[in-house]
Amino acid sequence: MNREYAARHYHIDESRMIDNVMRIPDQVGEAWRFAQDFKPFDTSGISSLIICGMGGSAVGALLLRDIVRSETNIAIHLVRGYTLPAFAGENTPVICISYSGNTEEVLSVFRDARSRRCPVASITSGGALREESKRAGIPYLEVQGGLPPRAAIGYLFTPLLRIVSNCGICSVSDKEIETAVRKTRELAAKYCPDGDPADNTALNLAKRLYGKIPLIYSGDGLLAGVAYRWKCQFNENSKTIAYANVFPELGHNEIMGWECTGRFRDDLFLIMLRDSENHPRLLHRMNVTYEMLEPLAGGAVMIDSKGAGGRSGRLARLFSVLILGDFASVYLAVEYGKDPTPIDKIEMIKKKLRSEDR
Ligand code: PA5
Repeated sequence: MNREYAARHYHIDESRMIDNVMRIPDQVGEAWRFAQDFKPFDTSGISSLIICGMGGSAVGALLLRDIVRSETNIAIHLVRGYTLPAFAGENTPVICISYSGNTEEVLSVFRDARSRRCPVASITSGGALREESKRAGIPYLEVQGGLPPRAAIGYLFTPLLRIVSNCGICSVSDKEIETAVRKTRELAAKYCPDGDPADNTALNLAKRLYGKIPLIYSGDGLLAGVAYRWKCQFNENSKTIAYANVFPELGHNEIMGWECTGRFRDDLFLIMLRDSENHPRLLHRMNVTYEMLEPLAGGAVMIDSKGAGGRSGRLARLFSVLILGDFASVYLAVEYGKDPTPIDKIEMIKKKLRSEDR
């Protein structure tokens, strides 16, 4: 990035979200070591695991599900609300995640899980979740605080991977983590503001997205959670409306929405995320659909995950796409002249609800 552009970037990205994004690979490596011995419950004989979190604290669970679902016979459920499903009981471990530790939905589920005698564990940087866990003797992992929750994705996701590995739900090797960290670092170096702007895929994508609504489509597989992460990062960092959906389901309904008036379609930017492990029919569907939609959209791009195929490269491939979206969302914020870090509306709602409780 030339000096003039870098100066503008840092002037707008005042709180330096870009630095947080660059640190994601390091967070993964650190959290993997940090959570090494965290084995909060015995999972023998269980058939499901519930993870509860909201917003940035929930994304790790989506990523985990995408990584392990093809190789575990344990169903992983994500709860993003106030209560547990009826099946939750003494044989259903519940992991509560809240970066701040003060998210009311997560605290509500934490209490619900305790009252149903579910085995409970928590992941947090502090707040009421840490205090209540400590008081009740619930195993908890305290991660580094001081970041916006979405910028702590490495700290929130990796311990989940460690837990499922330690509990024998699915095995993850040090080598897989090391490869993912190294490959993601290499990509972060390419996408960072110091790289060559002409080669910066993230910056170039952000420039193309200016004034458009990103629609992020992935296959129902490794990149479904990543597509959702892209949407959320565009929402929170770039302060823009964005939507995510998955194949093959979207081919049975949403596809018809593209018959809308051209005035709407011109504002849509189609982003398709493809992974080599997607089912061959799914990949074929994605290609056919891309050919159909590209001429209708205000812009379109097909993005392939990078890295070795198969199970051993899964984590690296997932992060290769996640990191691109994170960088693009920060650059898009800068294009819009918005500091990516503040999330006023989210804070305002939380504050209003808290003040009504008093
Ligand atoms: O990105 C964000 O800041 C939000 O989506 C938060 O993650 C969400 O509001 C939940 O807060 P916490 O992660 O502290 O539980």
